[in-house]
Amino acid sequence: MNTLSTPALSEQQSLIGRFPHTFLWGVATSAFQIEGASRDDGRGESIWDRFCSVPGAIADASNGDVACDHYHRLESDLDLVASLGVDAYRFSVSWPRVLPNGEGNWNERGLDFYDRLVDGLLARGVKPHLTLNHWDLPQALQDKGGWASRETVHRFVEYARGVQRRLGDRVAAITTHNEPQVVAVLGHEHGTFAPGIKSQKIAIQVSHHLLLSHGLAVQAMRADGCRAPLGIVLNLAHVEPATGSVADLAKAKMDDARGRRWYADPLFKGSYPQEVLDALGDDAPRVESGDMAAIATPMDYLGVNYYFRMLASAAGDVDPFGGGLPRTEMGWGIYPRGLAEILRTLHSDYRLPPVYITENGGAFKDPLVAGRVHDADRIDYLRSHISAVADAMQDGVPVAGYMVWSLMDNFEWSSGYAKRFGIVHVDYATQQRTMKDSALWYRELLAFRATAQTTQGG
Ligand code: FCB
Repeated sequence: MNTLSTPALSEQQSLIGRFPHTFLWGVATSAFQIEGASRDDGRGESIWDRFCSVPGAIADASNGDVACDHYHRLESDLDLVASLGVDAYRFSVSWPRVLPNGEGNWNERGLDFYDRLVDGLLARGVKPHLTLNHWDLPQALQDKGGWASRETVHRFVEYARGVQRRLGDRVAAITTHNEPQVVAVLGHEHGTFAPGIKSQKIAIQVSHHLLLSHGLAVQAMRADGCRAPLGIVLNLAHVEPATGSVADLAKAKMDDARGRRWYADPLFKGSYPQEVLDALGDDAPRVESGDMAAIATPMDYLGVNYYFRMLASAAGDVDPFGGGLPRTEMGWGIYPRGLAEILRTLHSDYRLPPVYITENGGAFKDPLVAGRVHDADRIDYLRSHISAVADAMQDGVPVAGYMVWSLMDNFEWSSGYAKRFGIVHVDYATQQRTMKDSALWYRELLAFRATAQTTQGG
């Protein structure tokens, strides 16, 4: 087995030594991005299948038909997960695989797949962290209005209840939604993600329905006797004013209110930020009585996905990812300190449950050469961000775990397959998996846990 050269080792040892032995280390994926088998065993169509068929929607005109063929390579992929030495694996259930029409009859063969996935993880000593909605809404529900329709809220609750009844006794966590802001804004305001709608008014209503369905699903799953911890995953950028001008400061405050507080305030305080409601005017969401209390149903954990800092400029003439930062292949500015900052901000604004960093990572140019991928920039990215998590914990933020995005290269939504986030390289022609140097680094980091704890005496 490949290993890295020794100089990095003591550094890994001191890094892992900054975390308690209970800290949960993992890797993450999502169904649409890796499973493929888009027509196998009765799976229904999702809005991402449909969106991929729209000319120009996906950079390389690709789709999720095959992806990483994970559906057919489950056992060897689970071996791969286990070989990293992680505590947890975050995956998502494909709603149209288990409910091809989004509602009504369950697809037994689809459920079987997730049974095998969960049991296979447990057999390997890896905790299953399940996400219900990582964006692949059944197309049949989109045809009835999708997330813009309040009916979809109830369909989601039924879906959540069914999955919980089947798998809730064995999973270590159930996340309702992954990144509601992305579904709302990229999917329904910018139209660059499925279902490709371009309306601020619809996007805002969608965000309300996503949050409401989260709260009602948490209540319903608990009423059904669910023992697994329940939470939601938010994507949070660290927003900074581009300059010290009063106008830029105000813009930064507003961007933070729209991107973070619009989601976190209702979840933790039961209300939308007033300044955003005011700014939205007629586009403010239709909220029925009882909705806000349902959204604020206490959660067992909060998931945070962190990728970048965003600069806010009132004049709008500044590259939001700029400010002299090095960038990933996505063009996103690399700013590890922003992860510590956003965690501190959450900690000061809300009474937080345990927080998991449910996604963090980067796309880099990392070719496979002679069986190796020397992705030193990804190692730097992971090291510096993990260190920022430790900084935030030192300041009292209750962070309980960290998961790398992603286990392996996969379908990066509208960017197609060109952007590679994996710590494991995937050769799409052969489906061969090869651990990149970052995977070897992460595995070594985790292997140091035992020694680090002995040294700490903990
Ligand atoms: C997040 C998504 C995830 C992945 C990363 C790069 O927004 O949750 O599926 O695409 O970005």
